[in-house]
This record gives sequence, C-alpha cells and structure tokens, in this order.
Amino acid sequence: MVLGIETSCDETGVALIRASTDPGLPPGLGGQAEILAQALHSQVSLHAAYGGVVPELASRNHIQRLAPLSEQVIQEAGLSWGELDAVAYTEGPGLAGALLVGASLGQGLAHAIGRPAIGIHHLEGHLLSPLLDPAASGLRFPFLALLVSGGHTQIMRVDSLGQYQMLGETVDDAAGEAFDKSAQLLGLGYPGGPEIARWSARGNSKRFELPRPLLKRSTLDFSFAGLKTAVLTHVQKLKAADGLDDHARADMAAAVQEAIVDVLTTKCRKALQETGLRQMVVAGGVGANQRLRAQFNAIQKSDQVEVLFAPPHLCTDNGIMIAWAAALHLLAGKPAVMSPGFTVRPRWPLSAFTPKTS
Ligand code: KG4
Ligand code: ZN
Repeated sequence: MVLGIETSCDETGVALIRASTDPGLPPGLGGQAEILAQALHSQVSLHAAYGGVVPELASRNHIQRLAPLSEQVIQEAGLSWGELDAVAYTEGPGLAGALLVGASLGQGLAHAIGRPAIGIHHLEGHLLSPLLDPAASGLRFPFLALLVSGGHTQIMRVDSLGQYQMLGETVDDAAGEAFDKSAQLLGLGYPGGPEIARWSARGNSKRFELPRPLLKRSTLDFSFAGLKTAVLTHVQKLKAADGLDDHARADMAAAVQEAIVDVLTTKCRKALQETGLRQMVVAGGVGANQRLRAQFNAIQKSDQVEVLFAPPHLCTDNGIMIAWAAALHLLAGKPAVMSPGFTVRPRWPLSAFTPKTS
C-alpha cells in the first residue's frame, strides 16, 4: 500500500494504491494496481497568463495544496496513515522548489509513521505507467520506451526494472515544449499540446510546410527548435498580410502536430528496426495525443510490433505513476533503509539512474 506524491512541475498529484505483481515474472512485469484514492490539482490557470510555468508560483501553490490533498486521499480510501507500507515522492528531475515541497512532505510523513520514504525518478514514473494497463500483461524485457513530455524527449531501451539505456534524445526543445511554444506563437491556450490537438481537428496539415530536422539522419536524436522558428516565420508573414485568422491557426496547428508526430514515429520505427525489439511503450504528456496514437497503431499493423500506451489520463503528471513505480521497486525486493536527510535532483538523467530508498 503506497502513497505517491508528484510535485515536479505544475500538477499537485497524490494517490494511494495497493499493488501486487506476478511472482512468476521478472520484477516490474505483470503487475497490478488497485487505485484506492487519488487527487490531482492542476495549476494550469495559475500559469496560463504567462504562457509557461512560473517556478516560484508553482512551489507556493504546491505548499498550499499538498497537505490537504494528502489528507483527502487517506480519508477517501478509508485508511489511517499507519496502514501505509511506504511513502513515495518525485525526487527529480523538475523544478527544485516544487520538488522540495513533495520531498519534504513525503519524508515527513514516512518518518512520522516509521515507513520507508522512496524518492522516485519522474521519468521512470512515466515510463512504467503503461504497465498499469492490463493490455500490457504480455510485455517482456527488453523493450523500447518513448518518453515524450514537456521537458524530455527520449528513446530508451528498457532492460529490466531500473535499467534504462538512452538511445536517442532531443538536442534542444522537448516535443511537449514544441507543442507549447507553437501554441503560444499562434495565440492559442496553454498548455499547448491539447490546444494544438483541438485546433488540428479542423485544420489542413498540408497548407504550411514545416521542417522535420534530423529526420533523414542516421541518429536517433531529435531536434524541435527549428520547428518553433519556422512557425514564428509563418506567423510573422501571416500577421504582416493580416492573415492570421482562425482558419490559418487551425491549418498551422495541424501542420505542427503532423511534423512532431511524423518525427517521433519515424525515429521510433528506426529504433525498433535497429534494435530488433518488437515491443515498445509510449509515455509522458505528449503520449495523450490522439494523432500520435493513431500513427503508432498503424505502425503496429504495418511493422508487426506492439506499441503500448498509458491510459490517456495517466499520460500527464499524476501521483499514481509515482506510487506505482515505488511499489514495483518494493515488490522487487529493494532494501528499505531509513536514513536522515534527503535530497532533490532537479537534473537527473534516467540512464544514470540508481534506485534508492531511504
Ligand atoms: O508529462 P507531462 O504532464 O509533464 C512533464 O513531465 O513535462 O507533459 C506535459 C506536456 C506539455 O508540453 C503538454 O503540452 C503536452 O505534454 N501534452 C500534449 C497533450 N497533452 C499534454 N501534447 C500533445 N497532445 C496532447 N493531447
Ligand atoms: Zn511528466
């Protein structure tokens, strides 16, 4: 029974899960989680006026929300604090101040009830969340993972629970950032991903040509900064000609979505071919994108591979994925040692990851 706390960015997420795994399978596979209670407070409206997350506002809001949400989750589950087996929180990467709020409460709670506090890597939380879907019961190591969020775009090879090898990553902006910045240039709402997706539905993706950097290169790395510059150039031209109307916005949104989806799917196909792996998971906020899912579904059929996603509401940040990652490590028999002091890691590559329990 694990409480998960997520405060790395602009969502305050808390969840309480009861997890179990199939002892016949390697640790991390064939797991199940019963979600006993969950709460999620989005700070979107707080940051919307700025077009992006303001770190200081994020930390202050987490401070206000986190303790009441934790109390609420325990009450909804009808449990007392002492019934928890562990308290997990996001240790990094993320905004330092925001991470400290979750780490402080997580460590404090764990200390108070005499149970382990587990610092979780945020990206590992994303990466393991597709395993919450019963459809993932056939997943076996090694497999590939595409992590696409507001801060990261990476293709990883997953050899076992806790062993992640980076095969490619963005050299500049993350895919989610490309969605967010393009939306901002078009005067659409924040966060940009869902807005671009919404506007794309009535747009023509072929009207504007946008670059797909590194697409034809042999590398599995990504680059999205040129996309933002190209959108800016189109927007400036349209504005000069008094042509940035809703029609143009929808067409540009569709072109942006198509360019990002095209790059992500092409690189993943290449990674599957190069590694010879036949199973992959897609995780992180951008994984909620319907066009991306549709293109991956087409690849499943054409290339005879299996592509698994987290349920759409678990693609973006939440407490469930943090509780789940911690539960998988606990069920895998990680030693739980109480130690004084704790840290947060605003920058923390997943490939340098060493699971730690304190
Ligand atoms: O994983 P996440 O919630 O937070 C980070 O760890 O960064 O991802 C947030 C990102 C934002 O950039 C947001 O615009 C993007 O995910 N996003 C989407 C969609 N929903 C969220 N991008 C494209 N299509 C969506 N439906
Ligand atoms: Zn995230």
